[in-house]
Amino acid sequence: MYEKQPKQAGQSRTKNSYAAAFRSNLKYIENHRKHMLPRVIMHNTISIDGSVRDFELDIGLHYEIADRIKADAHLIGSETAKTGIELFTEKIPEEEPADFAKPQTKTNDTRPFWVISDSKGKLKGLLHVYRRSCYCKEVIILVTNKTPEDYINYLKERNYDIIVSGEEHVNYRETLEKLYERYNVKTVLTDNGGVLNGILLKEGLVAEMSLLISPVVVGKQATNLFRTLESKVNLELIRSERIRANHLLAIYRVLEYSPVEYGQTAARSGTPGEASNY
Ligand SMILES: NC(=O)c1ccc[n+]([C@@H]2O[C@H](COP(=O)([O-])OP(=O)(O)OC[C@H]3O[C@@H](n4cnc5c(N)ncnc54)[C@H](OP(=O)(O)O)[C@@H]3O)[C@@H](O)[C@H]2O)c1
Repeated sequence: MYEKQPKQAGQSRTKNSYAAAFRSNLKYIENHRKHMLPRVIMHNTISIDGSVRDFELDIGLHYEIADRIKADAHLIGSETAKTGIELFTEKIPEEEPADFAKPQTKTNDTRPFWVISDSKGKLKGLLHVYRRSCYCKEVIILVTNKTPEDYINYLKERNYDIIVSGEEHVNYRETLEKLYERYNVKTVLTDNGGVLNGILLKEGLVAEMSLLISPVVVGKQATNLFRTLESKVNLELIRSERIRANHLLAIYRVLEYSPVEYGQTAARSGTPGEASNY
């Protein structure tokens, strides 16, 4: 959609004015196209005191709830990805020739992409574990302009899709735009231990929070999900549900959600958006 140019009094539609209108409309389209962002939903299983670890997490239930969201992509931090391998893989399997090829997927494949942020190359030698999973369509790796070259070569040799954005760290707003544009990703589930979720929340990129609360208090050694957030985030409860005997699922809308950058001052003013119905 683009705006009709207001006609000035006495203005004649000369070749130049048509050209100016065309250029202005192109600029409008370009600005809006850049702002197409997927809807990001944060999903975590936490203890009563907000810890993401050091308790027995019901991983089956965690993913059963995550699956309801039917996200087009899961965004995973390198720490979470690495810990996942350590926790759930007894021995890293040897790489085989098939691990170097991009998986063949059908156009009607509804499995999500797994998008892993790994600007420092922490997952070198491990990515085939994720690529082999039957729960994902394909693995996409997020890197920056400063990612070590040997890691980029490792990814290229294995035909991984790469999104390059940012310098020291990945620029997630830009990356989400690219996921929308290149892969038609409309919904992203972010399933992380707090650091990455905190960054996404701070940048106004999270639309909703899905918190599965486990019946346990971790106590002193708790690793709080929101430990890296420096300022308050206001929420609105959309719904809650008792799950199985003992878990509570609480879905919140993030009021600071700002999917469109209206400008420096308005970006944090809050545009709640519509609630999902998973
Ligand atoms: N309970 C749950 O629901 C749940 C879910 C998932 C994980 N976990 C647990 O959480 C723990 C890991 O979580 P974590 O909080 O340490 O790590 P994390 O949430 O996985 O976040 C680390 C990611 O944040 C990025 N990052 C770090 N600093 C950044 C910055 N300043 N700007 C932009 N990006 C930045 C890093 O990107 P680069 O690598 O690209 O630099 C990295 O990918 C594990 O123990 C795991 O088991 C719990």
